[in-house]
Amino acid sequence: MLKNKKLAVIGVGKLGEALISGLLKKGAVSAADICGTVCHESSIARVKERLSIEVMLDNQKAVKGKDVVLLAVKPQNMDSVLKELSTVVTKDQLIISVAASVTTGFVEERLPKGIPVVRAMPNTPSVMNAGMAGLCTGSGAGDEHKQMAEAIFKCVGETVFVDESLMDGVTALSASGPAYLYVVIESLAEAGVKLGIPREVSTLLAAQTMLGSAKMILDSKAHPALLKDMVTTPAGCTIDGLMELEEGKLRVTLIKAVVKAAERARELVNTQNSKNKS
Ligand SMILES: NC(=O)c1ccc[n+]([C@@H]2O[C@H](COP(=O)([O-])OP(=O)(O)OC[C@H]3O[C@@H](n4cnc5c(N)ncnc54)[C@H](OP(=O)(O)O)[C@@H]3O)[C@@H](O)[C@H]2O)c1
Repeated sequence: MLKNKKLAVIGVGKLGEALISGLLKKGAVSAADICGTVCHESSIARVKERLSIEVMLDNQKAVKGKDVVLLAVKPQNMDSVLKELSTVVTKDQLIISVAASVTTGFVEERLPKGIPVVRAMPNTPSVMNAGMAGLCTGSGAGDEHKQMAEAIFKCVGETVFVDESLMDGVTALSASGPAYLYVVIESLAEAGVKLGIPREVSTLLAAQTMLGSAKMILDSKAHPALLKDMVTTPAGCTIDGLMELEEGKLRVTLIKAVVKAAERARELVNTQNSKNKS
């Protein structure tokens, strides 16, 4: 579906780079068909060196003749970028926004009527083709736009369509999620170090265990609690470890972390709107 499609990525920062890199690794889009933009002249060399794509500062020029325009600037830059693009984008182009908490309505209001818009919330493991993206559509997007957006994010991981009202939750869970899980891996690795295991070995043990456990859930579709029970031998050592986790309130801490991050995602929209009104 992406064959010979041309893509503009407005804002090749951490996320933009992760997505482009995943698409290139998969061979879904060729480097010659991708044009990226950045804000600072000094960033051009960085992007060229890392991705070997065309890079420029001119957003209007970058989107001309492209099939898909992926907006990957910070939420606070979306208003000005959309205004800049509003005179050049056409109904033949699909606009995909990955900006946290920016609604499809926000994007549509700033572009000519009827432009197809998809909102996506991917995460940085997309760079390893192990990403997770939540997607929802705006009022001008049809099935073919849904399929196109899905094809892009499927190249770099898993996708799921959700109601737009759930997108802040997706942001807090799977887009912020890698940060929480890195802390978990780092802590497990520290535990190994405390027990005398060299740091490198300890980090491998922790990260591969996280990967394997996730794979068990995804492949078997079993409930995590059932898989946990399989590891927990009566009167064995795992139950002692689990008791420590319960005492340290790991579960409630993780739940509160995601709920708090979702609240913050909602706040970003309000901050943005009040800035735009003033
Ligand atoms: N990071 C994540 O894990 C993640 C996950 C899901 C969604 N997102 C969303 O992805 C978006 C980008 O996040 P990020 O972490 O990648 O931020 P970032 O690293 O700061 O990247 C933002 C990029 O936008 C460029 N930029 C800023 N203003 C611009 C303009 N007017 N025209 C063209 N380019 C412009 C910047 O250029 P310079 O490099 O020259 O400054 C930078 O390369 C955000 O909306 C965020 O909510 C991020």
